[in-house]
Amino acid sequence: MHISSAEFVISNTDISKLPEGNKPEFAFIGRSNVGKSSLLNMLAARKGLAKTSATPGKTQLINHFLINNNWFMVDLPGYGFAKVSLEQRAKWEVMIMDYLTQRKNLVVIFVLVDIRVPPQKSDIEMINKLGGKNLVIAIIFTKCDKLTKSKVQRNADLFKTELLKYWEETPLCFFSSTETLAGRDEILDYISQGIETYNK
Ligand code: GTP
Ligand code: MG
Repeated sequence: MHISSAEFVISNTDISKLPEGNKPEFAFIGRSNVGKSSLLNMLAARKGLAKTSATPGKTQLINHFLINNNWFMVDLPGYGFAKVSLEQRAKWEVMIMDYLTQRKNLVVIFVLVDIRVPPQKSDIEMINKLGGKNLVIAIIFTKCDKLTKSKVQRNADLFKTELLKYWEETPLCFFSSTETLAGRDEILDYISQGIETYNK
C-alpha cells in the first residue's frame, strides 16, 4: 500500500465523540512503551504523526488518524503502566474496552507485544478478553531489532505456547522494527486486504 496522505483527526476520552464510523478502522493496543505510536508512524511513514516517548504512559487518549482518505488508524493508551494511579488505569481500561467492543467499523485489533520479554500476564489476559468477544485480532511482536533472529523466534514461540493453553490456534503474527522497517509491508498488505473485504 502506498501512503499518499496521513492526517490527525481527533483525540477522545469520550467514545460518543469518535469520528463517524464510515470507514474501515484498525486499532493498535499493547502495554505502555511497547511501541504503538512508533509503529503507527512507521506504517504511515510520517515521523511525528503520533507522539512517542521513551517514558511509558505517553498516549492517554483515543487518537484517530485518517490514512489515504479511506481508512482510520487508531492509537490507544497502553495498559499495565505501574506509575499511573489505579483509578486512572481503571478509567482507561473501561474507555479502551468500550471503544474496542462497540466500534462497528473496527476491522482488526493489532495487539503489540514486546519481543524482548517473556509472556506477560497482562498481554495474555488482553488477548483472551478480546478473543472471548470474538473480535478479530492479530499480534505484532515489536522491537525485533533488539534481539537476534533466533531469540526472536524463541520468544515468539514461548508466547504462542502460552496462548495455546487457552486457544486451539494462535492469531496471525507479525514481526516489526521501526529501526529496520521490518514488518511494514506485511502489515500494510494485511490492512489492504481488510479494507477490501470491508468495502465488498
Ligand atoms: P505509550 O503511548 O506510553 O503507551 O507507549 P507506546 O506503546 O506508544 O510506545 P512509543 O511508540 O512511544 O515507544 C516507546 C519507546 O520505544 C520509544 O523510545 C521508541 O523509540 C522505542 N521503540 C518503539 N519501537 C521500537 C522498535 O521497533 N525498535 C526500537 N529499538 N525501539 C523502539
Ligand atoms: Mg503511545
